[in-house]
Amino acid sequence: MTRFALSQRFANGVQCVSDTIMIEARALTPSLWRIRIGEDATLPADESWAVPAERRHAGTTVTIGESPQGLILRTAASHLHIATATGAITIEDTEGRLILADAQDAPVLPGRTGFVLAKRLSPDTRLFGLGDKPGRLDLRQRSFAQWTTDSYAFEAGQDPLYKDIPFFIGYERGRSFGVLLDNSWRKFFDFGVSDPELIRFGALGGPIDYYVMTGPTPAEVVSAYGWLTGLPPLPPKWALGYHHSRYSYQTRKDVRKLARRAREKRVPSDVIWLDLHVLNERRAFTIDETAFPKFRALVEELHAEKFRIVMIADLHIAHVPDGTYQPYATGLARDAFVHTEQGALYIDEVWPGPCVFPDFTMTTARVWWGDQVIGSVTETGVDGIWNDMNEPAVFNTLGTFRPEVRHRIATEGFAPRVAPHAEIHNIYGMLNAKATREGLLRMAPDRRPFVMMRASYAGGQRYGVTWTGDNVATWEHLRLSTAMLLNLGLSGFAFAGVNLGGFVGNSNPDLLTRWLQVGMFNPIADNHSDLGTAAQEPWVDGKAHLHIRRAAIETRYRLLPYLYTLAEDASRTGLPFMRPLFLEFPEAAGGFALDRQAPTQFMVGAALMVAPPPYGEMPGAFDVLLPPGGWYDFWTGARIGTDRIARITGNSGTTKELDADPRQQCHVIRREPEAGRIAVFARAGAILPSHDVIQSTAETPSGPLRLAIYADTHCSGTLYDDDGETHAFRDGQFLRLLFSAHFAEDDSFTVTISRQEGQYAPWWSEIEVTIHGLETFGTLAVKPGGKIKAGFDADARSLRFTLPATPEGVTISGTGRRQKSAPPED
Ligand code: GLC
Repeated sequence: MTRFALSQRFANGVQCVSDTIMIEARALTPSLWRIRIGEDATLPADESWAVPAERRHAGTTVTIGESPQGLILRTAASHLHIATATGAITIEDTEGRLILADAQDAPVLPGRTGFVLAKRLSPDTRLFGLGDKPGRLDLRQRSFAQWTTDSYAFEAGQDPLYKDIPFFIGYERGRSFGVLLDNSWRKFFDFGVSDPELIRFGALGGPIDYYVMTGPTPAEVVSAYGWLTGLPPLPPKWALGYHHSRYSYQTRKDVRKLARRAREKRVPSDVIWLDLHVLNERRAFTIDETAFPKFRALVEELHAEKFRIVMIADLHIAHVPDGTYQPYATGLARDAFVHTEQGALYIDEVWPGPCVFPDFTMTTARVWWGDQVIGSVTETGVDGIWNDMNEPAVFNTLGTFRPEVRHRIATEGFAPRVAPHAEIHNIYGMLNAKATREGLLRMAPDRRPFVMMRASYAGGQRYGVTWTGDNVATWEHLRLSTAMLLNLGLSGFAFAGVNLGGFVGNSNPDLLTRWLQVGMFNPIADNHSDLGTAAQEPWVDGKAHLHIRRAAIETRYRLLPYLYTLAEDASRTGLPFMRPLFLEFPEAAGGFALDRQAPTQFMVGAALMVAPPPYGEMPGAFDVLLPPGGWYDFWTGARIGTDRIARITGNSGTTKELDADPRQQCHVIRREPEAGRIAVFARAGAILPSHDVIQSTAETPSGPLRLAIYADTHCSGTLYDDDGETHAFRDGQFLRLLFSAHFAEDDSFTVTISRQEGQYAPWWSEIEVTIHGLETFGTLAVKPGGKIKAGFDADARSLRFTLPATPEGVTISGTGRRQKSAPPED
């Protein structure tokens, strides 16, 4: 057997070698390890499309010790062992509890081509991440291929889809870890399929370069992944508004009519998307002057009506050699296009007919592409760019480029070389978005770019937002959308959406209504549908449906202060906007069994839980799972009674879980579906900011800033705001307020609004506070100030009062008894 010897020590790790294999293990932070393995006794080149050099080269000091089996590298949070007899790697926490271990006596196994890594899979570990896998949230007992693929009308279980995000999270109650395999080649992940006790993953070629995050909470794993591969930049505020889209609004008249109707019908909305019909012969960076005469004037008119415009710019460039199409002519002159194995231009069919394709692995090609974006946006005045078809999708039998087609890597951080498409395929779409974002930033450094991409790779969240592609107008797809967005959120994409209402096929009125109700709690709320399908705007199914849909959209607009605060939080912490229950309640009795029993429930940030009926097509009462802690009905403000303890079933939830720490106990309530709204709950202890309805984020709300306090012993919340579109927040032009409240045993309470952090001037002059869950009320006083007027509603158990807003902050103290329990629900 080959033995491994220590060949080099670093402050943050070691290298070990055998006759044939070199292993390098380094701690980038106390809870994040990078492991690289070379099968010919040298390491692969230290290059990455996903992980920036300053992260790859970060380090924390390790102490290097020896054990009878080999080496131990210790950080403050974890230990990594390398067995000298075999090279097998084991990672444990500082108390010796296993985090991740090689399952075989080797650090890597040969694949038929490429390599395979095999890690032990414990019986209770559930697996998440991998981007856009359509199926249940938990990926255990499934295997996956990673190859970005155009997937029109995809089905549940179909694989691969549009993205390759080779990052997964293992979680069981009280423990979690993350793994990123940073390798752009075609890969596979097998979570207990070929062997129930193994996680197997590998690639057909390329480097063995992976990272392990040791948690221990899933939120820490997600944040560590964000730190490693980059955080999603704060999008413009309008991106959080409601988006109208279809393939396509075909003429200037269509678009004007849409904008007029939206405002007439008082459907709050911010964005209109222009798909292929806006283009001349479907060529990127052109305008069809017949269908859209005076396009710039149209855009300006829409801006005046408080709409933003996102325009499609697919990456393929029409092959028009006669000199009449500038993007082709200039791209050719800059040698920006992909070549065949023989060095000729690679030409293939896409929307405009024969096309050529920018080689985004070359800085010069990305700059050239960015210049096209700049030219187009400067000329048209549009606000955002939509990079579709970037898998890359091609209309040949393969659906994409031949694997032998050549890319000529020439970019910072990489040794210049020719690479086959087989290596570049999975990162190509992400680099398309990178080029677009860089162009937009070059054009207007102070504006936050809005780039929508369909294909992506790990780290793609740095360049733009994404959606799940061509879904179908069915109830099943509505259900799939939640699991897909949750896994995307765990995979770095805090900002993602689905085609609300379904893209392929005609939606039906009830489905569209329900989808809009759920979708208003998605990070991006974009209603989009296919060519030839029935119209899907909120008003197309008559008054009753419009009424419900409008109310759902209005709720989103009222909650914008909270949603925008979540967006800013995601841009700093990497934590997603939309979260599975286990992310917020990792210690709850049952652990993931919670999400499994309530597969359509999800959290929006830490304060709200959305619980749509699981089967919209089957009306009937359904169970809502209430994770530990108290809950309030978001619509009525009433505290929820919880006498039925959840009987969590399945692998990690046994009857024993019922006797677990009562503070970790979950409850169940039964709900009847309501046509007018879906069940939404506010977490006891949350303080939720909101404002009056506006028709567009470009409007200033009238009325006060509203704070809803859901009484518990300790309550907290935050509010972030800024101008919504520039980078001035980086220079202090933002505001942050911290809210807290404390309800004491002696029936006194205090509410504190902090001094404002940041210099941005708020739009409100008053703050209206509502405390929910107060049974009695005595007095109220504010400091600085004095007595204030308050309205107490004994039936609703709520207290309401209004304060002038001051940048200095205030403390309010009062007397009144908090409601501790509510009558049982059933
Ligand atoms: C692709 C996109 C879809 C778009 C269509 C036309 O199918 O996924 O969203 O409408 O192309 O551009």
